[in-house]
Amino acid sequence: MNWFLRSLLCSLILAASSSHATSSKGEAPKPAPKVIIINMFTPEAQVWYNIPEFNLLSGNNITVPGISPLFPQVLCTKAGDICQLVTGEGEINAASSISALIYSSLFDLTSTYFMIAGIAGVNPKVATIGSVALARYAVQVGLQFEIDAREIPSNFSTGYFPQGTTAPGQFPVDIYGTEVFEVNENLRQAAFALAKTADPHLNDTADSQANRDQYASFGETVTRPPAVVLCDTATSDTFWSGDLLGGAFENITKLFSNGSATYCTTQQEDSATLNALMRGATAKLVDFSRIIMMRSASDFDRPPVGETALANLLGETPGFVPSLLNLHIAGARIVTGITEGWELIFKHGIKPDNYIGDIFGSLGGEPDFGPGSLFGGKPAP
Ligand SMILES: *[C@@H]1O[C@H](CO)[C@@H](O)[C@H](O)[C@H]1NC(C)=O
Ligand SMILES: *[C@@H]1O[C@H](CO)[C@@H](O)[C@H](O)[C@H]1NC(C)=O
Ligand SMILES: *[C@@H]1O[C@H](CO)[C@@H](O)[C@H](O)[C@H]1NC(C)=O
Ligand SMILES: *[C@@H]1O[C@H](CO)[C@@H](O)[C@H](O)[C@H]1NC(C)=O
Ligand SMILES: *[C@@H]1O[C@H](CO)[C@@H](O)[C@H](O)[C@H]1NC(C)=O
Repeated sequence: MNWFLRSLLCSLILAASSSHATSSKGEAPKPAPKVIIINMFTPEAQVWYNIPEFNLLSGNNITVPGISPLFPQVLCTKAGDICQLVTGEGEINAASSISALIYSSLFDLTSTYFMIAGIAGVNPKVATIGSVALARYAVQVGLQFEIDAREIPSNFSTGYFPQGTTAPGQFPVDIYGTEVFEVNENLRQAAFALAKTADPHLNDTADSQANRDQYASFGETVTRPPAVVLCDTATSDTFWSGDLLGGAFENITKLFSNGSATYCTTQQEDSATLNALMRGATAKLVDFSRIIMMRSASDFDRPPVGETALANLLGETPGFVPSLLNLHIAGARIVTGITEGWELIFKHGIKPDNYIGDIFGSLGGEPDFGPGSLFGGKPAP
């Protein structure tokens, strides 16, 4: 090889290796997961391990600064198409972890589907334990004034009443923005169609059935076997139990959503998760039309007739194991439906026909709840 050829070859090799070095340092394509499963605590996380559909334990763990110290890594499949974040429990942990993920710059989340997969309490008038509910609305029912029930005026039905008002039943005056979120109904229906095929395979136990049967006075639905259902979710940091709080939050769910949302599952994170995702969408880092809120019911929000609210709260929860198992049994069909239908459908997104976003109208459009867009129907500047 002559000098000229050798030096040309040398510089080509150098150029190739240095461009490789920069691309693996600065410009390497970021992982762009197709689906991120959002769990809140260890039992919800573990149902996604050692499953036939995909492997989150294949070694692709990504440390994300600022997510929960209890769950410092996002776990991904080897291909990087499916990942899992565990937020920690309660609204503050959920919002902080989701925000840390979004602003970490470690992922390209612009076409990622976010699927909340957690267990929940349930309103026996609407659904039953073991069932898996997909929500359109998340309502932050705990965001209210409260005075202790022993000190309420005799004509108040509850100690909770909306901020800026003088009594229960009045529409909130001081609105913080996180009271109600609405997600893509067309996506919810697609997820429902995928998950519904799991109905005959959902886990159920004799103990769960015995627990449900005690609630027969609430209607026929509650005594039926678990199913995948469509109904909304209520968020509060406070883990409540009882007929009266259940009834008060049914009322608040209707009031905050102008009659649209149905108080069905109860949990401590979803409005916080949705607000962090909504902010991420205003920063153009996530797509708010790609959110699935899935909650399976582990226990009832109120006692059966003849039992106290305290006994309901502290008693056995036979729905716990079935609800965990059913998160995976129903949810895996949604996840694999998205990954297998990626090129054909999901990559491009499913266009919403309904309003999506918060009560302020931050993402544009006119909310079908609340006092109207703060931004004249346009996205927040
Ligand atoms: C990734 O995290 C999971 C769950 O914590 C763990 O089981 C697995 O061993 C981790 N993999 C590596 C390579 O650290
Ligand atoms: C309760 O009674 C007070 C005093 O009579 C009255 O001003 C108030 O409007 C009543 N509130 C409700 C919720 O009925
Ligand atoms: C539900 O799961 C429990 C615990 O793994 C198991 O014992 C039971 O057989 C399952 N029931 C159904 C109907 O799959
Ligand atoms: C729910 O609202 C209705 C109608 O205002 C009221 O009669 C009822 O007492 C409320 N329930 C609770 C538990 O606050
Ligand atoms: C929701 O209800 C409140 C209170 O009645 C009302 O002021 C508001 O205009 C309603 N919003 C929509 C979108 O209907």
